Amino acid sequence: TVLVVDFGAQYAQLIARRVREARVYSEIVPSTMPVDEMLARNPAAIILSGGPSSVYEEGAPRIDGALFEAGVPVFGMCYGFQLMATTLGGTVDNTGAREYGRTPLTVAKPSSTLFEGTPEEQPVWMSHGDACSAAPEGFTVTASTDVVPVAAFENDEKKLYGVQYHPEVMHSTHGQQVLEHFLYRGAGLSPSWTTGNVIEEQVAAIREQVGDRRAICGLSGGVDSAVAAALVQKAIGSQLTCVYVDHGLMRQGETEQVEKDFVAATGVQLKVVDAQERFLEALKGVSDPEQKRKIIGREFIRVFEQAQAEIVAEAPNDQPVEFLVQGTLYPDVVESGGGTGAANIKSHHNVGGLPEDLEFKLIEPLRKLFKDEVRMVGQELGLPEEIVQRQPFPGPGLGIRIVGEVTKERLDLLRQADAIAREELTAAGLDRDIWQCPVVLLADVRSVGVQGDGRTYGHPIVLRPVSSEDAMTADWSRLPYDVLAKISTRITNEVRDVNRVVLDVTSKPPGTIEWE
Ligand code: XMP
Repeated sequence: TVLVVDFGAQYAQLIARRVREARVYSEIVPSTMPVDEMLARNPAAIILSGGPSSVYEEGAPRIDGALFEAGVPVFGMCYGFQLMATTLGGTVDNTGAREYGRTPLTVAKPSSTLFEGTPEEQPVWMSHGDACSAAPEGFTVTASTDVVPVAAFENDEKKLYGVQYHPEVMHSTHGQQVLEHFLYRGAGLSPSWTTGNVIEEQVAAIREQVGDRRAICGLSGGVDSAVAAALVQKAIGSQLTCVYVDHGLMRQGETEQVEKDFVAATGVQLKVVDAQERFLEALKGVSDPEQKRKIIGREFIRVFEQAQAEIVAEAPNDQPVEFLVQGTLYPDVVESGGGTGAANIKSHHNVGGLPEDLEFKLIEPLRKLFKDEVRMVGQELGLPEEIVQRQPFPGPGLGIRIVGEVTKERLDLLRQADAIAREELTAAGLDRDIWQCPVVLLADVRSVGVQGDGRTYGHPIVLRPVSSEDAMTADWSRLPYDVLAKISTRITNEVRDVNRVVLDVTSKPPGTIEWE
């Protein structure tokens, strides 16, 4: 395992992903973890991430110098690089020499461990105020910029390396190569970690954990719960029952996809609960987004509990249902362990995931994986492409894509518009370019239009195509005009009561991806 020490900001997750892209397994640990504890995990290498602090700030995170004496290869990036420099006796000055964004880097030693085979001049992504002016003793300076005399240093004997920039971001064009050089050449690791290993490992672990008992899994139709269920099904077969709650807030064809394609691919035991009436009843008269989310979450749990009781009642003499399968991913684990007290922007309700007070023991076979890795696991398990490559869809479904009260008529109308948008985006081959494209009905807004010879007074549909790496930030997608035109024409022609289609051109922040 390569440990990525997190000094804050969002860099650590990206670094961990890049290490895994190099087929080396990595995990994130907080910078507050004592060095003993890090070393007790027997890491093959350690990476110190960037962070928002200056090494001169009071209370800025530090690292125990013992880390550099343990014989474990270390790679410092940005803040991690400056910490290495100051801890090992180099000089970091608060010169006011700032560099932000794309910067040309000059490699001083093209044959070095980190830079071999990369161009002598290469663009890198910088973000720092302080600058290293002298490397610690025993280190060779291997790169510089116009502003920073020491932008990279290396000590092959001690296997310690550092760069001032962010090799993990794509703007550093040779960053991945430099990172791989550290892993393979500096730390002597080989690219051997695969998602195939994960499947074998998890199947064995789940069998051991569950024994003869039974498990249940809430399926949402999304990628994570589908892959988690398929993995557990592979391990324990008919001891698993999946529950799919059809709350009526699904998109066109989704329930059928779970009922047919998913079952066909996995052979899983599935219980489908039709709870459409119940959800509509509970949502009657409600237009406040937070209230909608809470109601949907609450009803979901009730239906799920009921389904669980039925499963037990149907086969009372069988083994107890003791386990709940959840599709928790690694970023969720890191974020909930981080305890940074991030503001609650929306009460996310992961339908398909459930609260722990249901008194189950949890099986979370994906808790070490990133999203793209979950997709690879799904593919290897033979799940259909339409499920594995699905774009994210919120648990509360179309319920939070109708601005205003949720009714059956409005849901049907939105389903129709959404299906058209998805069809055209797929036909244009844009599915992989966009992260997701919420289609929103502004049910409380009306505007005047003309169709045929008559005046109409209908509702607008909003298209919200976004590009993103992790949904934390997003930009609006610059879709080709002809695709937008086609979607607009079809929606206004085919969907009753819609006389306008508008495009949302807001990034996140300030807008969130969903409208509610
Ligand atoms: P926002 O709107 O917060 O969305 O920018 C970020 C990502 O999360 C999805 N989303 C949800 N997913 N339960 C979920 O499982 C939810 O309650 C929920 N709300 C938003 C959204 O589709 C986007 O991908």
